[in-house]
Amino acid sequence: MNDILCMYFSRTGNTKAAMEELAAALDAELVELSDGVDRSGTKGFFRSGMDAMRRTVAPLQPFETKKPLANYKLVILGTPVWAGRCSSVTRGFLKEKGYLLTNVSYVLLRGGNGKCEEVYHQMDKYLSQPHRTAVSLRAGSVGYRFWQEEFLRQTRAFLEGLEIQD
Ligand SMILES: Cc1cc2nc3c(=O)[nH]c(=O)nc-3n(C[C@H](O)[C@H](O)[C@H](O)COP(=O)(O)O)c2cc1C
Repeated sequence: MNDILCMYFSRTGNTKAAMEELAAALDAELVELSDGVDRSGTKGFFRSGMDAMRRTVAPLQPFETKKPLANYKLVILGTPVWAGRCSSVTRGFLKEKGYLLTNVSYVLLRGGNGKCEEVYHQMDKYLSQPHRTAVSLRAGSVGYRFWQEEFLRQTRAFLEGLEIQD
C-alpha cells in the first residue's frame, strides 16, 4: 500500500469494478461508501435520481480507513453519474470530508456519451483545491480500457511529480 486511497459508491457494480481494477493497478487501499439507503430496483432508481437532482444527502454509514484522510497522498473518488451530477452518496462524503483531502482524483461511471467536465466542476466545490486527474468511463464501451489506462498514466505522472517535490 502506498498512501493512495480509492473510495467509491456503486449502485449496480460498474464503479465498483472500475475502482477495484484501479486500486489493484496502483496498489491502493479500497473503501466502499454507503448511506444505508435502499437504492435497489425501480424505486431505488427514482429515489437516486431525485436525490441527485435535489442534491439531498443522507448521513454516511461509518467507514474505516487505515490512516486519517488528510494523510493520503491521493484520494481517488469513484462515483456513478446521476442526473448529470455525482451520486448523492459521493456528495455526502464530499460535504462531510472534502475539506480534509489534500489531493483528489475522480473516476466517473456514466451511461451516456456526454463529457463530464461539469460534474468534475461541481465536485470541486467541496474541495480546498481542484481535482488533480479525472476520467469518465462507460462500462462496456470500446474506449473503456484505453481511457482507464490513460487515467492511470496521468495519475502516476502526478504522483511522480509529488515525489520530485519531496
Ligand atoms: C438515477 C440515475 C441517473 C443517471 N443519470 C445519468 C446521467 O445523467 N448521465 C449518464 O451518463 N448516466 C446516468 N446514469 C447511468 C449511470 O451513471 C451508469 O449506469 C453507471 O455505470 C452506474 O454505475 P454503478 O453501476 O456503479 O452504479 C444514471 C443512473 C441512475 C441510476
